Amino acid sequence: MSESSPSTYASRMAQMRPSTIREILKVTAQPDVISFAGGLPAPELFPVAEIRAAADAVLTQYGSRALQYSQSEGMPPLREWIAGEMGRRGIKAEAADVMVTNGSQQVLDLTGKLFLNPGDVVLTENPTYLAAIQAFQTFEIRFVPVPTDGNGLIPDALPALIRQHRPKFLYTIPNFQNPTGITLAAERRAALARIAAEHGLVVVEDDPYGKLRYRGTDVPPVKHWDEAGRVIYVSTFSKTIAPGLRTGWLVAPPEIFNRLLILKQASDLHTSSFDQLVAHTYLTQNDANAHVEKIRRAYGERYDVLDSALRAAMPASYTWTKPEGGMFLWITGPANLDALDLLKRAIEQKVAFVPGRDFFPADGGRNFLRLNYSNSTPERIREGVTRLAALCREK
Ligand SMILES: Cc1ncc(COP(=O)(O)O)c(C=O)c1O
Repeated sequence: MSESSPSTYASRMAQMRPSTIREILKVTAQPDVISFAGGLPAPELFPVAEIRAAADAVLTQYGSRALQYSQSEGMPPLREWIAGEMGRRGIKAEAADVMVTNGSQQVLDLTGKLFLNPGDVVLTENPTYLAAIQAFQTFEIRFVPVPTDGNGLIPDALPALIRQHRPKFLYTIPNFQNPTGITLAAERRAALARIAAEHGLVVVEDDPYGKLRYRGTDVPPVKHWDEAGRVIYVSTFSKTIAPGLRTGWLVAPPEIFNRLLILKQASDLHTSSFDQLVAHTYLTQNDANAHVEKIRRAYGERYDVLDSALRAAMPASYTWTKPEGGMFLWITGPANLDALDLLKRAIEQKVAFVPGRDFFPADGGRNFLRLNYSNSTPERIREGVTRLAALCREK
């Protein structure tokens, strides 16, 4: 394409930059690199045979209907199943409250389209999910971080932020947050729902990891306490079946749901009919809970290996979170650490992670590392930590 004048592209593109870290991390695709970067679920745990059988059953049972256009809201049997699952998670929902989406990522885009004008404010944890930052940044907005500690965001800080910034919504990942692994305490969830009701604050609750708890007890979602209808709950089959199905969902109050539906229609008409039916058939013809249990056990074991390898080898100036589920752990290095520089040296030693800087939508330090443990075997985790810790001990 020839060189274009700056006005060729929409103004929003001025804020959208290719990630330099992504370029550096391209080498991690090489098999001899031990990668704690990326956020991939363990591929050896994808239920390949079961999905093959489900695909076959769908074509036998539904024939051409499985390949036809379908409703923007989603296929009725899958919406019914998800409504039942919502009940098991502590959320009252009918099938009519459920919209099937192209992964949870699509919901971030749709909520951005629904609420955000240039200059608007979104409240987030700081750090937060990188692709949520990207999705909302498209709308030329400003991020305001909510103070957090080891139990997640601090609800008492919200009223002042709401008064000062008039945010359009709060985006939160209450379970095993990406990137920190931190879980929002139960009493804070109830407080958040109460404050949202009092101040008319919309909350986007992104919950891709809640089913992946390997320690402790489940905490109900913020949506569980949402009597006022302020919370949009978002989840996905990406981490419990497979991300390639690109099948997620939202549960929202009717006035928000109906507007999101118009945007969903304009965006992609609907999520793949075939994939939705395959997901539904997989869920109903197999012991899907037993499969999730297998994933939980594997990730719990990988986390334990990672945590004990770090404890054995890392210098005392490094500390890290102790997630009770999910796929990520967050390391805080000494204040003078430049994690990007560490990554460059790590790649020479064929080990990789993601430097934390890009997860901060507003201000944030350079001395953080995100480590993913779902996509490496225990042996490779041990070896990777040995290489990484040796670099951290170097001056
Ligand atoms: C917090 C968070 N939200 C959303 C997503 C996107 O998931 P999906 O595959 O459902 O689009 C991810 C994926 O890693 C994530 O970590």
